[in-house]
Amino acid sequence: MKIAIPKERRAGEQRVAASPESVKKLAGLGFEVAVEAGAGAAASLTDDAFREAGATVADSPEALYGGAGLVLKVQRPLPEEVSALDKGAILCAKVDALANPHDMKALADAGLTVFAMELMPRISRAQSMDVLSSQANLAGYRAVLDGAAELGRAFPMMMTAAGTVAPAKVFVMGVGVAGLQAIATAKRLGAVVTATDVRPATKEQVESLGGKFLVVDPEMEKDAQTEGGYAKQMPPEYFEKQRQVVAEHIQKQDLVITTALIPGRPAPELVTEDMVKSMKAGAVIVDLAVEAGGNCKLARLGEVVEAHGVRIVGHDNVPSRLAENASTLFAKNLLNFLTPHVDKETRTLAFDWEDETVKGTLVCKDGQVVNPALTGEGN
Ligand code: NAI
Repeated sequence: MKIAIPKERRAGEQRVAASPESVKKLAGLGFEVAVEAGAGAAASLTDDAFREAGATVADSPEALYGGAGLVLKVQRPLPEEVSALDKGAILCAKVDALANPHDMKALADAGLTVFAMELMPRISRAQSMDVLSSQANLAGYRAVLDGAAELGRAFPMMMTAAGTVAPAKVFVMGVGVAGLQAIATAKRLGAVVTATDVRPATKEQVESLGGKFLVVDPEMEKDAQTEGGYAKQMPPEYFEKQRQVVAEHIQKQDLVITTALIPGRPAPELVTEDMVKSMKAGAVIVDLAVEAGGNCKLARLGEVVEAHGVRIVGHDNVPSRLAENASTLFAKNLLNFLTPHVDKETRTLAFDWEDETVKGTLVCKDGQVVNPALTGEGN
């Protein structure tokens, strides 16, 4: 079976869905791997490195996709990419299925079998396949560096002959995968770190990283988590209380990193304009939820803006800012997903359609959109 790995076409995307390591493993499993010329260039993964790992480097879409039974991508393909794929091909990518139902219909109409990697169930066996986690972890790290670069203050306490520099105060809102890495990174740089989340399970995690947890309402937070480990939509009274606690705390912070998301819904507003007004001059907010509408409504997607003396960072696609690591981890997630379904004798894929990771991520098959989250059968 031939696997095609194209260069990503969406604006600003620097990642690629393969690494020399993943190509070597796929080739070792008996697949023929074709990587589009220059596909990894923006992630410092060269054509030569892919060649050495056992791939052929394709100079045209025809050479890349011709005869390919499996296509590995980072992002949802553009219409012109879809038309280049062989009918019946399998596509694995982060297609953002729930937010783009019309595109899923188009992929089904094109006869593709599509696995939406972002729908990977949150079970322990699937941790190594979870692209949201691998990418969010890097985004959390990068958010601290992006924030530090905008801040006119140092992170660690410094005792110098010219005087003492107080440590920076960093506040992380939303302690999922990205938030935890942000806390760890800010601590390593020497900041004083506080954090908050609606899920009470995170308190212990924050403390184990040396941060201090800001409790909003222990009673309401008891019921804040779904069985799948995601946050639930909280009642309006909770938000009111959260606003008061945060409003008090935020005035003293140098850097605020917001990461709060609720799957399938706009990001909750956590930092209001009044809170921004109350912050110190020169303070910085990094809004990692900006693609989902932002935890701070003043954040602008793809921009660094200044409002009321506060710099608000709203970079788009933060994992792509660490394209080499992000590509390598993404590629490994795909490999871990596919490996259990490889038929070594026929050197092809033989999916176990009852497997939870397959059922959970399958979006299109046999010309139909089949995922219950999209067909409405899951509600
Ligand atoms: P996410 O990216 O959906 O959300 C980020 C964080 O924002 C979450 O911790 C959430 O509780 C928080 N949040 C939502 N609304 C908020 C509000 N109003 N105020 C404050 N915080 C709010 O979540 P992520 O990072 O993808 O995962 C959450 C958890 O799921 C992880 O910490 C982990 O325990 C679990 N997980 C399990 C996996 C597995 O078992 N395969 C894989 C990945 C994550």
